Amino acid sequence: MQKVILNINNAKKIFSKNTLPAVNNVSLTLRKGDILALLGPSGCGKTTLLRMIAGFENLQTGTVEIDGQIVCNSVTLIPPEKRDIGIVFQDYALFPHLTVVENVGFGLKNLSKQQVQQRVREALILVKLEGLEQRYPYELSGGQQQRVALARALAPQPKLMLLDEPLSNLDIQVRLQLREEIRNILKTAKTSAIFVTHDQEEALAISDIVGVMRQGHLEQIGTPEEIYTHPASRFVAKFVTQANFLPARRQGNLWSTEIGNFEVKTSDSYETGEIMIRQEDFILKPCTDSSLVIHSRRFLGREYCYCLHTPSGKEIHARTMTDTVLSEGTAVEIAIANNAVRIFPE
Ligand SMILES: Nc1ncnc2c1ncn2[C@@H]1O[C@H](COP(=O)(O)OP(=O)(O)O)[C@@H](O)[C@H]1O
Ligand SMILES: [Mg+2]
Repeated sequence: MQKVILNINNAKKIFSKNTLPAVNNVSLTLRKGDILALLGPSGCGKTTLLRMIAGFENLQTGTVEIDGQIVCNSVTLIPPEKRDIGIVFQDYALFPHLTVVENVGFGLKNLSKQQVQQRVREALILVKLEGLEQRYPYELSGGQQQRVALARALAPQPKLMLLDEPLSNLDIQVRLQLREEIRNILKTAKTSAIFVTHDQEEALAISDIVGVMRQGHLEQIGTPEEIYTHPASRFVAKFVTQANFLPARRQGNLWSTEIGNFEVKTSDSYETGEIMIRQEDFILKPCTDSSLVIHSRRFLGREYCYCLHTPSGKEIHARTMTDTVLSEGTAVEIAIANNAVRIFPE
């Protein structure tokens, strides 16, 4: 078992008495070398939690421990520069009057000139910026500037890297490429990291563990696969999978909905709820006497996205391989692949 690099216990942060806590009883553990994605909608407390770990915010209750050392509790507050962490922000925050080399070397203290040069060189190789050493930030693209910020944060070889939506300002092509590379870079450097994002696909792709936040608290934490296949709440399911939800009522072993009855195993005893069906789990077949009708079809390259209308007028989205081609207006019956229906209480 890898050792624990970060342990947060019951952390709470309230900015003002009249508002909900920005961070509410968050506990989590990060193991050495792992990448944790903190995922949640805007305003749910991701940045505040990251700033608490970094040491820019104190907390009302709870503790933060980095590599076995308490850095924050009711009596201790170790300042950011003594926490051995690297930080990358959304807006790069480079020094505009310093070159790439000077930016990357900026945080390196207590090292000889040769050691600094060596570390800077290694960091620039890691982020693939060799050849651009003498440029100034304004001479670089957004993606290159973020690579410099990454190299600057990595050069001191921190115990923990904190990245706050580092890709949000970049256009989609660069974002996808850099997302792949950041994961490789962190893994190569064997650096533990927390990567904050509001983009579910980004969170799943980059991390070993995902923590989903909602209104200050951690709603679920688990591997990307666990979060996707076994969302702990309707909120997680909706946010992470963009699944469909339909009201359902228990009837014996089945859950009855307007589009059919589904078998879902649950140990809970509630009688009404909402079933969840992921878009990719539908199997569609034409069936003239069905009341479920294809309203529209969109071609997305690898797949079709169908919008179906239910008898009560609800919309359902289904994605299929491109070998299922059905025209708009077709009545269809559905089957669900892999027994993938889930139920959540109302
Ligand atoms: N310095 C601050 N003073 C008062 N409220 C704040 C401050 N920073 C953040 N908040 C509030 O805390 C909540 C969480 O914010 P934040 O952590 O920035 O969310 P996220 O990064 O997930 O978008 C928000 O309601 C925000 O308005
Ligand atoms: Mg934020």
